[in-house]
Amino acid sequence: MSEMQWWKNLLKSSSREKSPLEQEELPEILPVLPLKDAILLPGGNLPLIVSNPAAIALIKNLYDSGSVIAAVGMKRHTELQLASWENIYHIGCMAKITKVSPLKPNEISIMIRGIHKIALDEQVNASPGMTARVSYLSENLEADREVYALALSSREILSQLARLSFQNLDTVLSSLSRIKDPVVLMSATTTNLPFPVEKKQQILEKFSLQEKYTLLHSALREELEILELSSKISEKAKGEINNAQREYFLRQQLKAIKNELGEGAADLDDEVEELKKELEDKELPDEVKSEIDKDLKRIARMQPSSSEYVTIRTYLDWILDLPWTETTPDNLEIPAVEKILDEDHFDLKKPKKRIMEFLAVKKLKSELKGPILCFVGPPGVGKTSLGRSIARAMGRKFVRISLGGVRDEAEIRGHRRTYIGAMPGRIVNGIKLAGTVNPLFMLDEIDKLSHDIHGDPASALLEALDPEQNNNFVDHYLNVPYDLSKVFFITTANVIDTIPHALKDRLEIVEIEGYTLEDKLQIAKNYLVPKEIEANGLSGRNIVIYDESLEYIIQYYTRESGVRNLQRELASCLRVIASEVARGSEETFCIGKDFIFKALGPLKYLPESTQRTHIPGIATGLAWTPYGGEILFVESALVQGKEEMILTGQMGDVMKESARLALSIIKSMGNPIAQDHCMHIHVPAGAIPKDGPSAGVTIVTSIISLLTGTVVRDDLAMTGEITLRGVVLPVGGIKEKVLAAKRSGITNIILPKMNEKDLHDIEGSLTRDLSIHLVENIEEVLKLAFPETEPEHSVLMHHHQQELEKAGITPPARA
Ligand SMILES: Nc1ncnc2c1ncn2[C@@H]1O[C@H](COP(=O)(O)OP(=O)(O)OP(=O)(O)O)[C@@H](O)[C@H]1O
Ligand SMILES: [Mg+2]
Repeated sequence: MSEMQWWKNLLKSSSREKSPLEQEELPEILPVLPLKDAILLPGGNLPLIVSNPAAIALIKNLYDSGSVIAAVGMKRHTELQLASWENIYHIGCMAKITKVSPLKPNEISIMIRGIHKIALDEQVNASPGMTARVSYLSENLEADREVYALALSSREILSQLARLSFQNLDTVLSSLSRIKDPVVLMSATTTNLPFPVEKKQQILEKFSLQEKYTLLHSALREELEILELSSKISEKAKGEINNAQREYFLRQQLKAIKNELGEGAADLDDEVEELKKELEDKELPDEVKSEIDKDLKRIARMQPSSSEYVTIRTYLDWILDLPWTETTPDNLEIPAVEKILDEDHFDLKKPKKRIMEFLAVKKLKSELKGPILCFVGPPGVGKTSLGRSIARAMGRKFVRISLGGVRDEAEIRGHRRTYIGAMPGRIVNGIKLAGTVNPLFMLDEIDKLSHDIHGDPASALLEALDPEQNNNFVDHYLNVPYDLSKVFFITTANVIDTIPHALKDRLEIVEIEGYTLEDKLQIAKNYLVPKEIEANGLSGRNIVIYDESLEYIIQYYTRESGVRNLQRELASCLRVIASEVARGSEETFCIGKDFIFKALGPLKYLPESTQRTHIPGIATGLAWTPYGGEILFVESALVQGKEEMILTGQMGDVMKESARLALSIIKSMGNPIAQDHCMHIHVPAGAIPKDGPSAGVTIVTSIISLLTGTVVRDDLAMTGEITLRGVVLPVGGIKEKVLAAKRSGITNIILPKMNEKDLHDIEGSLTRDLSIHLVENIEEVLKLAFPETEPEHSVLMHHHQQELEKAGITPPARA
């Protein structure tokens, strides 16, 4: 039987002639047949396919005995696997099974015909087959004029649906549209047309035909509208519709309907349109354009609540927010730039000179690739703030990122978009903040970069910095090349050693050293004090600060290479004044010692070398740290113990070796105490790790002081590596060490002769009140350390030489 024929039969049987059964008495208890996704109305015929073996048996039984059943719809949105009393509607239809035909071994097709509207009052049996006690409901099926009008219009809609080939039901629909009897039309259409079961159930439950038609008619109209819309859309969206598109398609239908009903919001489209327009207006490289075109197309099809929409939207916003062509013109007027740099910072001649050179060349050759400068120096010497000042002088935007602790390549270069929560890396982020393609970009703390299993951030950084390749920097998130060649990169570091090698090669190191007392005084007087007065809202007030007061603060309240703590202490002083002013004080404020004591509390640092070295066994050394120079003490003591020596105070391996070396030198001098005692060497400030060979001479001096019972001169500090044969080798960080000695009130320092060249870099003013002794071997050191006694140590030295000579070894070279 063709489909058409089948439907014709079906419809023919939907006539109103009464079946013999209807005159029979109506049974009170009926077996329940739950209908999935279907509702049967009296007069309607519903074809079903049954595949559950138990149900098949039951149905065959009922069919053979000619029994009637209760056909009720199952509620949607419930777990539909099993029908239960709770998830079926309790208004349904008494029905008869009119046909059973086998389809496959375990499948039958049946036809049921609706006879009478019923209410299911209570469940009688739950299993195996559900049965229920029912009551029979009456209905008003009188057709008035309005019903005829609605029926007419419904037929019209049905034929339109047929034309639009609604769910491939054109034959059914055109047959339905020819049914004249309004009651038959209503029940057949409701039973057989695929629209939501909730609506069908409502129609079933209504009492009068007119109410039923009102509902049916509006359901049909809705279907028509959806169909019309979707045909419009599908015309536009030609070509195949894949699964992802299908969802969109349905959503569009929904949206259109909602709009039609005045419920929907049209802003989604507007939003995407606006974004599109903004992106079109922006000057973007072609490559970027073609990349985002794809995304724009995709986003237009998406639901704004979907996570993909948000992901793409965020990406497009990034593209939009990033500068692609925006630049600021460079100020290349050399004298003007110089003036601004001097306005902001005292001294710093080297870096300022380098910047002026760069500008001069840039003026001659506009396409100049920026150098990558690296300002190296102790904290608080103005590296970061100089960068800011250069940006101001050149008229460029300034951005700064800190690389301290960055260990993951993705932090520099971003995560691919496929990661949840992916973001661009810090470089692109910085550029976005700057808003121009040629900012001054400061990468702070490049020496604190580390790396782990997630790739090496240094190599990503290299790509960003290297002028040879950074016009095509690829951030994983952006996934399109970004031109960084116009950016002026400046990096900063406290130490050179820990900067990753490949990077160090590309950097132009500009050293910024610590400041002397005189420098600090100038900086405080001319820069920090005015700045803090301004910051505390005290401009125009009468404040007097003597130079001596500033020096006093510098000497007794700070101990640093830079001026950061100095700035902090000055700020504290001025805050005290500010609170007085706020209380209405009009007096002239004078910052003298008393005031300082009140504002800053007791002195924080005292010249300590004199106190420390008044007992034998202690010597003062000079150390270099990333935070500038420091004085350090080496203490020795003899203790009972089996070991040869104990080392404490967080010494690094190199320093430990120096200590062993020192002990060997002394033992070789033949001192009997050293031979059979355990030597304990301690470097105080045990919380701070110390390393390096430059404490060699200090350790030897400390031990000799102990063994000979002689106190080391208290105004003396020393530095120098030592060899097993007593030769003093050169060390690094001379300027910082000299500065540290001065800060601590030391007047004599011992330096290796081989460091003489470094003294040329140090300005005269720095060494003015300082005696510098250049030495070649340990004997000279000892002579300087113990000047008054012609003591045991020279006897020791003498013995040492004799021992060496006895063994046929040439004695250490002498000056
Ligand atoms: N030569 C100077 N002239 C004027 N002010 C200075 C000078 N050097 C430093 N300062 C001021 O000292 C403060 C600290 O400087 P900054 O933060 O730039 O130090 P830094 O070298 O970057 O330190 P770090 O290594 O800890 O980052 C700033 O307020 C700065 O203006
Ligand atoms: Mg800094």
